[in-house]
Amino acid sequence: MSIGGGRTKTLLLIFFLLSCLCDKSHGQYFNDESAIQNVTYSYDDYYLRGSLMIKSFPNNMNAYIYYATHDGVWNMTGTMMAAHWKMQNPENTYGNWSFEGPISPYGISKFYVYLQLVESGVTYTDDNDSQYYEVPNGGPRSTANCDGYDVVGTTVAKGVTKLSLALNGAGCALYSPDVKYLTVSIVPYSKDMVRIKIADTANNRWQIPASIVPEGSTEGTITTKSYTVSYTTSPFTFKVSRPSGEVLFDTGVSGLPSLIFEEEYLEISSALPANANIYGLGDMADTFRRSPDTTLQTFWALDRGTKRLNNAYGSHPVYFELRNGKVHGVFLRNSNGMDVALVSGKITYRVIGGVLDYYVFTGPTPAAALDQYTSLIGKPAFVPLWSLGFHQCRWGQTWTTTAGIKATIESLKEIGMYVDTVWADIDHMDAYKAFTLGSGFAGWNDYVATLHEEHMHHVPILDPGIPPVDNYSPYQDGVSSDIFLKWPNGTEFLGEVWPGTTAFPDWFHPQANGWWTKQITEFHGINAFDGLWIDMNEAANFLIPPGYEPAYHINNDGAWEMRGLNYRTISTNVTHYSGATEYDAHNLYGHYEAIHTRSALSSLNPGKRTFILTRSSYPGTGHYAQKWNGDNAATWEDLYLSIPQIMSNQLFGIPMVGSDICGFGGDSSEELCNRWAQLGAFYPFSRHHRAENSHDTFFFVWETVTESALKAYKIRYTLLPYIYGLMQEASKTGNAVARPLWWDNAKDTKTYDIDTQFTLGNGLLVTPVLTPGATTVTGYFPDGIWYDWYTGKAASTSAGYKTLDANLTHINVHVKGGVIMPAQYPAKTTYETVRNNYFLIVALDKYGQSTGSLYVDDGESVDAQYSQVKFGLGGNTLAIGTGWNKYRITPKLDTVKVLGYSSRSAPRRVYVNGRRVSGAQVELSQKVLTITGLAIDLNSKSVLQWK
Ligand SMILES: *[C@@H]1O[C@H](CO)[C@@H](O)[C@H](O)[C@H]1NC(C)=O
Ligand SMILES: *[C@@H]1O[C@H](CO)[C@@H](O)[C@H](O)[C@H]1NC(C)=O
Ligand SMILES: *[C@@H]1O[C@H](CO)[C@@H](O)[C@H](O)[C@H]1NC(C)=O
Ligand SMILES: *[C@@H]1O[C@H](CO)[C@@H](O)[C@H](O)[C@H]1NC(C)=O
Ligand SMILES: *[C@@H]1O[C@H](CO)[C@@H](O)[C@H](O)[C@H]1NC(C)=O
Repeated sequence: MSIGGGRTKTLLLIFFLLSCLCDKSHGQYFNDESAIQNVTYSYDDYYLRGSLMIKSFPNNMNAYIYYATHDGVWNMTGTMMAAHWKMQNPENTYGNWSFEGPISPYGISKFYVYLQLVESGVTYTDDNDSQYYEVPNGGPRSTANCDGYDVVGTTVAKGVTKLSLALNGAGCALYSPDVKYLTVSIVPYSKDMVRIKIADTANNRWQIPASIVPEGSTEGTITTKSYTVSYTTSPFTFKVSRPSGEVLFDTGVSGLPSLIFEEEYLEISSALPANANIYGLGDMADTFRRSPDTTLQTFWALDRGTKRLNNAYGSHPVYFELRNGKVHGVFLRNSNGMDVALVSGKITYRVIGGVLDYYVFTGPTPAAALDQYTSLIGKPAFVPLWSLGFHQCRWGQTWTTTAGIKATIESLKEIGMYVDTVWADIDHMDAYKAFTLGSGFAGWNDYVATLHEEHMHHVPILDPGIPPVDNYSPYQDGVSSDIFLKWPNGTEFLGEVWPGTTAFPDWFHPQANGWWTKQITEFHGINAFDGLWIDMNEAANFLIPPGYEPAYHINNDGAWEMRGLNYRTISTNVTHYSGATEYDAHNLYGHYEAIHTRSALSSLNPGKRTFILTRSSYPGTGHYAQKWNGDNAATWEDLYLSIPQIMSNQLFGIPMVGSDICGFGGDSSEELCNRWAQLGAFYPFSRHHRAENSHDTFFFVWETVTESALKAYKIRYTLLPYIYGLMQEASKTGNAVARPLWWDNAKDTKTYDIDTQFTLGNGLLVTPVLTPGATTVTGYFPDGIWYDWYTGKAASTSAGYKTLDANLTHINVHVKGGVIMPAQYPAKTTYETVRNNYFLIVALDKYGQSTGSLYVDDGESVDAQYSQVKFGLGGNTLAIGTGWNKYRITPKLDTVKVLGYSSRSAPRRVYVNGRRVSGAQVELSQKVLTITGLAIDLNSKSVLQWK
């Protein structure tokens, strides 16, 4: 297939990694004559194919292919290629080999054949066996004739600059016809955020409706701005800088097209500093800091379990850059499929539709940047308190019946496990039909009533695919409301999901909300759930329907497998009610479903917060729903990846996020599940879940796991008031809950790459074990004093790495000096925990000071009356102030624990508001001062002192 008319392509780097288990000596393969001969190859826009001969290629060898891009970045595809290029020699002996692999749109500049032999763990290489081919014209379609646009008209009104752009020359029609006339609007959105939108002047291209994803409006006349925008006129490029002159985004990148704006292909790049610190661009499974030279992120919602570097369930075309301690961000408000590459000091966007609608926000602190971004897309929904407890889920095995689930929950209670929520996966349905209960779930609603009596909760799964079967009112209602998606000729679009053939709701249809709300309300009548789990909403389809594919193939599903846009989803030809095609709106499917689900649950329980776990997401989804990272596997790699995934979602405005504890797919070892139980206890959303046909890993299955889980979840439930306060803050300011270490230490460059640790808020550092066989763990401690959670001893007093004991049942958790954490005595549910008395963990900084706050409300109302209590300790005085007090706090503060107490002797007398507390007891041990026997009312101001 040579769409480009036989243009040459190039640049391939082939490495052969030969691993020899035979008894021959390596010398046999490496001699004066090259072992690689007769390399031939040819290529078109998408594939490179070729053949070669290898002299004396023994059995049991593996061959891998890599290539480098035009930028000379040999590593660009290094890790990807290994998995996806195929070399075949049916006999697996020496002789002729053929190879075939998809070429990235970033081109191929070199072709390199390289032999390596690994014998007994030793790697042998030989330059004589390395062959190297330069192919200067290799790569994607040439952009040589893409001369961009000139500014031909300018108007400025009410602070908004509008530029008229006209295509230079005939254009380059790289993948589709050029759009001739464009309009650029430069709109100061706020003092810290500017919008630069490049759209067709005719204004008939797809743009995301503001009702689905906010676009903001200007905040009147803005006098002081933290940015300046400048542009060049011939060709047009734009630049966003700080007032200091520091350039944040600049589309005038030497050697690259200034702007390509075609019907189905948009390309624009910005310069980045060398070795830039870029975070975001997801969802994905990758390091938290994206490689500045080898990242290629595709945005196309896909039902694909955790897979390194792949596109995943959601699309978040936003990045945050950390530069010299300051953060800024760039959001491209576009829902079309796209590839975004970070290569050698630049970011390149290749987008297959819509318009280029950029928002640049200037931070400069991490929290300010996220506040700015979430001001645009929507602040995260405040979660109900109960959702911060432990969640138990399972698919298959014993979880196909009411009795089986009940037995599991009873066993968890027997080991003393903390459990708040019982889930149900697809087994609860009759023939997998949404809104039904199957025969295995007889008595289910009675069980849910029992759970409610015990202050527990229930969340069932709900998939969007609706089977077109008789006597099934969700389908018949949908047909009469006309809300199912259709082909352009009016025939209903059918795919295949769990129930078999299914229709899919069109969330754009004006009747969709009423229909969805009715089904959810009726289902609640037979299953009194407390939240919903909206899965399969990319939308997933087990079939590959026919549908339109544009000439530019985004890297859907990774590594140039060229699966196409229609791979296991709704056809791109399908049209929505408004006329929007699935081609344009695909990435919004799950997001729009979340909006309707939020609305349905709000009408079911007016005034109450909702809990909706979604798999797919788009910018703004966090305003409606919470998220988990989809189908991970019981591997050490996925245990690690859960941390960058959780931290990335904070940047996406979805702080309530977690990964399936102990891994969803595959069988977990006791040791892995043990480490996962410890780490998972600190996920914002903490759920244990397993796939069908995998072994049970419930926390009662192994003794070490039981011990670890009880120990770690005791901390979680103890810190419930602290974590709840973080969630409340996130809902107001967007601030991250599970934070990278740089969040509160942005000037410390050593933190920029760390993604094996995180903090909850600014006060709690979690340093999990992520490797098998470990008995210690090395973690970084930012500046300040960090106290061991368990002993209260100062573990670190200045920035640096520390190696810590981490036996099998121990997870390292440290409290930051300067932070006061509100805590409660943990009970087995969140409901009971928040009714217990409070205690404070007061971690002193080097000045002997500490501050903190407590947020309390009813745990469930949207506009809850609340109280906020502030704490400040200096010297021997703890001031307790009510910042706001509208919610009556019943439990008392009975204990204060001061970490890092430096006096040698314990105080003898304790006073509250000047009056001696006779029942107070004081203990000083290892610099931990514990004052018990208090009964401080937190509804009014008070002062605690000791002498
Ligand atoms: C390999 O190339 C050599 C010389 O270029 C040629 O003589 C030989 O026939 C080729 N072998 C194969 C298997 O094509
Ligand atoms: C590829 O990356 C690795 C690790 O970052 C580095 O050690 C290696 O030198 C790189 N290879 C090339 C060819 O640049
Ligand atoms: C409408 O289009 C779809 C997809 O091309 C096709 O499968 C279906 O048969 C068509 N329906 C009619 C009535 O032609
Ligand atoms: C999808 O749309 C394209 C372009 O409009 C058309 O060529 C193709 O036949 C359509 N395919 C189906 C299955 O409807
Ligand atoms: C595990 O390590 C912790 C922290 O170092 C220690 O308190 C505990 O006693 C250890 N447990 C065992 C069984 O060694």
